[in-house]
Amino acid sequence: MPEGTATSRPVWIGTSWKMNKTLAEAREWTAGVLATLAERPELMSGIQPFVIPPLTALTTVRELLGENSPVLLGAQNAHWEDAGAWTGEVSVPQAADAGAQLIEIGHSERREHFGETVETTRLKVAATLRHDLTPLLCIGEPLEVHDAGGSAGFILDQVRGAVDGLPEEQLGRILLAYEPIWAIGEQGRPATPADLADPVAALQAEFGASVRAVLYGGSVNTDNAADLLAIPGIDGLFVGRTAWELDGFRRLLEIAAA
Ligand code: PGA
Repeated sequence: MPEGTATSRPVWIGTSWKMNKTLAEAREWTAGVLATLAERPELMSGIQPFVIPPLTALTTVRELLGENSPVLLGAQNAHWEDAGAWTGEVSVPQAADAGAQLIEIGHSERREHFGETVETTRLKVAATLRHDLTPLLCIGEPLEVHDAGGSAGFILDQVRGAVDGLPEEQLGRILLAYEPIWAIGEQGRPATPADLADPVAALQAEFGASVRAVLYGGSVNTDNAADLLAIPGIDGLFVGRTAWELDGFRRLLEIAAA
């Protein structure tokens, strides 16, 4: 890690479990991470780990982590209203009550399957900030946009729409996760640093200095993590499959610490 990183921006290493893990599995993963960090405190130096379980496991993971944990805890989604007749939804204050510090907003799976739009991401970012939690805003372009060379413009529009009207101070509390849709999941193709150079540079130029961090996600694994972290403008990794296994998450922390 470059000199000074520990006192400036940390390297963020986090995972969303998506719709995976029973409570027993959640306990096992969390206890394993805590044991690793207790044994090897260097894995926390200059690194900010976080985990985003399904809502069913939020309280369980919070109880294991404790109140002042080095591992931040998040929810995968939250509604923009504080309460009301929204069957099946959970509000930001409810997620906070269950232990969440971060709210993931606008993951491409939510945009594709659950009607998340730029406008709903804007409402959710605002609700998250209003309750003093940290928005983790996910952005990313589909393959046809990437192939047509339009990635940078597409993701900048997603961010601009979601942060529209926010004062500078609030912008500074947002985490951005750039996750090209074509790079995510089983069918995804891992992105190369060359794929990412333009969109990341564009994000960096417009928002790098004002947001809290810019993370990358999409088929991150233990072979490509170091190269992805070396891309200028990438402050961390937001990981699915590789980090669901304790060994994978541990290895990513080691790579970030190296
Ligand atoms: P993946 O998921 O690492 O399994 O590709 C990434 C994500 O959706 O954030």
